[in-house]
Amino acid sequence: MRVRFPDFRPDGSQHAHRHDVIMNMSAQDTIELAGHGLVLREWRDDELEAMVAVFDDPAMAYWTPMATPFDLEAARAHLERVRRRRALGERLHLVITTDGEQPKGEVMLNKLTGTIGYGVGPAYRGQRLAYRAVLLMTEYAHQVEGLAQVSLEIEPENGASTAVARAAGYRLSDKKPQTVVEKGRPTSLLTWVHDA
Ligand SMILES: CC(C)(COP(=O)(O)OP(=O)(O)OC[C@H]1O[C@@H](n2cnc3c(N)ncnc32)[C@H](O)[C@@H]1OP(=O)(O)O)[C@@H](O)C(=O)NCCC(=O)NCCS
Repeated sequence: MRVRFPDFRPDGSQHAHRHDVIMNMSAQDTIELAGHGLVLREWRDDELEAMVAVFDDPAMAYWTPMATPFDLEAARAHLERVRRRRALGERLHLVITTDGEQPKGEVMLNKLTGTIGYGVGPAYRGQRLAYRAVLLMTEYAHQVEGLAQVSLEIEPENGASTAVARAAGYRLSDKKPQTVVEKGRPTSLLTWVHDA
């Protein structure tokens, strides 16, 4: 399935200009989203090293539930989990690329909770990749998955991620902060929301 979003703006003005979503079912039923200079696509079998380059990083280890150290074994386990959850229809993890090739990060939609998560490899930060990936995935969630509200769960101390949420047009909800223990560290997560 290939989906192209030509005219989406974080301030919500996309509704005035909304184009039809273009979807083509491919033989393998793989999902690819294109727009904002990005191609979001699924992980390939031969990308374990590229996955390590994205996820084996102190910021990724601290702010996300990803394994640390993130080595080839962790990459294999991640790929297996990603494919299992995709097959169950629970989650969609897509690689962030600018050309359809080099993996630069990952953006994930949990279809059961309507939550998006993301990470950009250390070599690729500061290029508005996370912002653009969140825009695209948000549009996909609303338009294709039919989710009326999409959310991000972010620690208030994570300034980079909070800036991504704001830039992508999310607003801080009044939901009580959720306390979860991640890798032995208690974390308090604020919920940011985006309405269709
Ligand atoms: C958070 C993260 C995904 C941002 O990726 P990125 O591609 O560098 O972010 P972008 O370039 O899209 O930046 C979007 C906005 O955030 C701001 N920003 C990015 N990094 C920042 C930082 N370290 N401090 C403050 N603001 C930051 C940018 O200036 C930009 O703001 P603008 O729209 O006002 O210009 C990346 O730092 C990362 O992977 N961190 C580790 C994993 C993580 O924290 N994931 C989110 C868990 S909730």
